[in-house]
Amino acid sequence: MKVHDVISVPRRDLLKAAAVGVALAALPFATRLASAQGRRMKIGMIGSGNVGSALGRVWAQAGHEVMFSSRNLDHDKELAASIGKQARAGTPREAAAFGEVLVFAVPYRALPELGKSLADSIKGKVVIDACNPFPQRDGEIANRAREQGAGVVSAELLPGARIVRAFNAIGAARMGAAHETPGRIGMPIAGDDKQAIDIASGLIREIGYEPVLVGGLDMGRYLMPGTPLAGEHTPEEIRKIAASLKP
Ligand SMILES: NC(=O)c1ccc[n+]([C@@H]2O[C@H](COP(=O)([O-])OP(=O)(O)OC[C@H]3O[C@@H](n4cnc5c(N)ncnc54)[C@H](OP(=O)(O)O)[C@@H]3O)[C@@H](O)[C@H]2O)c1
Repeated sequence: MKVHDVISVPRRDLLKAAAVGVALAALPFATRLASAQGRRMKIGMIGSGNVGSALGRVWAQAGHEVMFSSRNLDHDKELAASIGKQARAGTPREAAAFGEVLVFAVPYRALPELGKSLADSIKGKVVIDACNPFPQRDGEIANRAREQGAGVVSAELLPGARIVRAFNAIGAARMGAAHETPGRIGMPIAGDDKQAIDIASGLIREIGYEPVLVGGLDMGRYLMPGTPLAGEHTPEEIRKIAASLKP
């Protein structure tokens, strides 16, 4: 290899990188992130209320393909139309089949039935579980989830899903805003599947939160309102709190 070859290869790469940088800089903030990482994902949202719509919107804005679903397709079509071409709407079955990653953001009481009706599609998929059990709202299944731990019971109700609990104890209204101060707010997460944790962590980081793994799904019991991990904390605070909790 001649000397100029050694020099010209990195220079060409540098020019290419500079061109990509200029092109990316022209894109909106979040699209830059997803594009730079080069891994646009298909995300199926099961539930499109406060949580589902906020997360789906910000991931679509980050350049991912999002399908919203609920039992109200008209609502979800309107929601998708308000976001743009990265978003679409479908039935829960369609969203579960569409997504490489699924986000469950429904009342906890809906999980037993959804686990059955979507069984074929959820097996083997990364599922971000934002659902919280509230006995007054969700009935007996919520009591069980509180006794045994929400992570463990969600895994039972969604068999074969590679569950990561996340987004459980911060207000939905703030979920679309963390990207404005990236990395400052920690996101406690729990899961047993390393690859699923990595994928969920990437998505969480892209919308501005710093994911902090607090343990396996058995630690999911602490990922809901009313526990020391609830509310907004820095990543360091979450590590300290988590270290004081028993699995
Ligand atoms: N709100 C928060 O700040 C917050 C924060 C963290 C976690 N969470 C938890 O996240 C979950 C969602 O909360 P949210 O505030 O987004 O609730 P929400 O606004 O009531 O939205 C729930 C969504 O689930 C859909 N849904 C309900 N039953 C369904 C079923 N059987 N099949 C398909 N879709 C169904 C609803 O639409 P249809 O009824 O039209 O089907 C709606 O789109 C809850 O478990 C909640 O405890 C909430």
